[in-house]
Amino acid sequence: MKGPDTFETARLTAERLCPEHEPLIRTLYQDERVAATLGGVRTDAEVQRFIADSLRHWEEHGFGVWVFRERATGCFVGRAGIRRFQVEGAWENEILYALMPAFWGQGYATEIARALVEIAFECLGLADVVSFTLLTNVASRRVMEKAGLRYEREITHAGLPHVLYRRRAGE
Ligand SMILES: CC(C)(COP(=O)(O)OP(=O)(O)OC[C@H]1O[C@@H](n2cnc3c(N)ncnc32)[C@H](O)[C@@H]1OP(=O)(O)O)[C@@H](O)C(=O)NCCC(=O)NCCS
Repeated sequence: MKGPDTFETARLTAERLCPEHEPLIRTLYQDERVAATLGGVRTDAEVQRFIADSLRHWEEHGFGVWVFRERATGCFVGRAGIRRFQVEGAWENEILYALMPAFWGQGYATEIARALVEIAFECLGLADVVSFTLLTNVASRRVMEKAGLRYEREITHAGLPHVLYRRRAGE
């Protein structure tokens, strides 16, 4: 089970996260609009921890977070990926995504989530994937639905009410 180091979607390229991406990830996590639904603006140290955890995840599992750029311009669009994550005590395969605000509302997150679902099932052979977000994050919920995930239940994450969606292989 190994994810591709790079891949393309119709409008985006993806590169496996590497240490050189740190400034891009910092820009993303320190943007207040992005951070509003991700637990708040992260410090430089928290960004470094995210990078270190993500690099370790790739080493341990053969998949993880990719950095996405627009094919037409080369501009940094955001980060997204698949990671092993514990949800209320159970290990799950989480699909995660966050985009720079300049690229919101163009269907990019949907394009990314659909590509990640395909990688999860066709390439990694995972049995299922989940994604979760704040109850109020309508855009993210819609992305999940458009990637074929279905509402499963409410969960508590970081002390806040979230909704968890799931899709099983073959669905
Ligand atoms: C959530 C997020 C990834 C959505 O990215 P995006 O590229 O704008 O999403 P898409 O363009 O693919 O839109 C997906 C759907 O959400 C809808 N949508 C987008 N923004 C919306 C908003 N503010 N309110 C309601 N619906 C919205 C779109 O209309 C589309 O649905 P439709 O095709 O039925 O019209 C992006 O806003 C983001 O990065 N937010 C900050 C980080 C975050 O919240 N990540 C998810 C945490 S789980």
